[in-house]
Amino acid sequence: MSALTDNPAWTTLQAHYEDVKSLHMRDLFKQDTDRFEKFSVRSSGILLDYSKNRITEQTMTLLSDLARSCHVEQVRDKMFAGEHINSTEDRAVFHVALRNRSERPMMVDGVDVMPEVRAVLNKVRRFSEDVRKGHWRGVTGRPIKTVVNIGIGGSDLGVIMALQSLRSYQRDDLSPRFISNVDSSHLMETLRDLDPETTLFIVASKTFTTQETMLNARSARSWLVKRLGGEAVRKHFVAVSTNEEKVRDFGIDTDYMFPFWDWVGGRYSVWSAIGLAIALVIGFDKFEEMLEGAHAMDEHFRTSPVEHNMPIIMALLGVWYANFFGWSTHAVLPYDQYLTRFPQYLQQLDMESNGKRVDLQGRPVDYTTGPVIFGHAGTNAQHSFFQLLHQGSWNVSMDFIGVANNHHPLREHQTILLSNFLAQTKALMLGKTEEEARAEMAAKGMAQNRIDKLAAHRTFPGNKPSNSLVLPLVTPFTVGQLLALYEHKVFVQGIIWNINSFDQWGVELGKQLAKDLTPKLTGEVPIMDEDASTEGLLKYMKRLKKEFI
Ligand code: F6P
Repeated sequence: MSALTDNPAWTTLQAHYEDVKSLHMRDLFKQDTDRFEKFSVRSSGILLDYSKNRITEQTMTLLSDLARSCHVEQVRDKMFAGEHINSTEDRAVFHVALRNRSERPMMVDGVDVMPEVRAVLNKVRRFSEDVRKGHWRGVTGRPIKTVVNIGIGGSDLGVIMALQSLRSYQRDDLSPRFISNVDSSHLMETLRDLDPETTLFIVASKTFTTQETMLNARSARSWLVKRLGGEAVRKHFVAVSTNEEKVRDFGIDTDYMFPFWDWVGGRYSVWSAIGLAIALVIGFDKFEEMLEGAHAMDEHFRTSPVEHNMPIIMALLGVWYANFFGWSTHAVLPYDQYLTRFPQYLQQLDMESNGKRVDLQGRPVDYTTGPVIFGHAGTNAQHSFFQLLHQGSWNVSMDFIGVANNHHPLREHQTILLSNFLAQTKALMLGKTEEEARAEMAAKGMAQNRIDKLAAHRTFPGNKPSNSLVLPLVTPFTVGQLLALYEHKVFVQGIIWNINSFDQWGVELGKQLAKDLTPKLTGEVPIMDEDASTEGLLKYMKRLKKEFI
């Protein structure tokens, strides 16, 4: 037993789970027509309807008790106070300062970081405006038309996701591209049709040591130098990093280095200068609106009581399914094409944060922690993996994200999109009983033997829980709110699971081994002291390389 599984709030929930696990949401909705009012919450235009969950009022009371007994509010307050809650790295977790739009000072180690945050934002503003107005030009005097962000993980996913989401705010003459994978195909396909004279590279790396990013940056630099000469680097390369020395060593003018700080985690860094590509492509004012949206969610999270606190409610529901129902998969399903990249972004946010197996004290946990996150945009996803959600043998908790309005006024498309959004959560909740399936087939005049054969196949168990988030429109503000909502949800779950959501030691081992294997692939070092599988694979690949190239 651990402190968590021993916690009376946890054991009470376990007993409660036994009482409610067989209840069907269809009956819960029949018994209580006020479920929507009881189980929904709003924050600055975003609605969370969590009534289609396998919960009663008592469940929510007990989950709130769990949050309080795990000191969620106190740890949240420590984050906002700049305390070093990232204990394994002894750092503050302070991305909220990057989007603090209030006059409140944000203190870390006795220093208000807001003057520095504002100074960097001003630098981002000046540079992005210069580029957008054509004042900043390439070495041959032509304005910039393409911004290529070279980064990976948190220095890539948030920026892609935001720019994909906000594509309708993009100008036709300035567009983004991204290079992240060390696979040369990514680099070469991205550069293939680019004009070096109108291309600006942003090397985005917190550490400026990440193998993939640095190799991609060097190859991009060679591509540029080959075409425009070495002098071009200072006009076509800028950097976002915490590591000034490495930026200088790379040959980037540190006047065009946009700094951030070690209290910003990689996967929480889109709000920092890592967002430079966003400011360049959609304009600094829009980037600021995104910060404002995030700040609105921060204020909601910081000040709302547990029972009305959107991120806390979502976190608790996740804990309810992961730890009491034993479901380890969570799907995120945005019904808006602009949000297609959102699930992928969330995979890093959630799985790198809460994919942990020891608690803050370093003891193995005796409960499950962060779930597997997957998802895709509806309605496309309905035609790929929704079958499993409706009738598969696994249970998956779900977030549906609906957007009331569209940037493109084709009313029929939007109506059908929203009808599908509504229909799916309804179908997953209600299901279809065998009697209903039989009656439906009989009404169509089907023969009895055919009905008998198909009845089980056409039955839907239902009782599949989902949250519905509804946004008015995909805007910089709502995207900011949405990201902050999930950041805080993940954080709250980490508090409850007593894990550190802000380190990522799990990605290190593979990085180290890759470095050791490189000379074995090139032949600089003989293939020895490897396990049989790695040795066999190494030899096979080396042989294939000789045969095909
Ligand atoms: O994947 C591990 C990781 O450290 C992420 O947390 C981070 O976002 C990514 O690598 C990139 O790191 P950097 O910005 O230092 O290049």
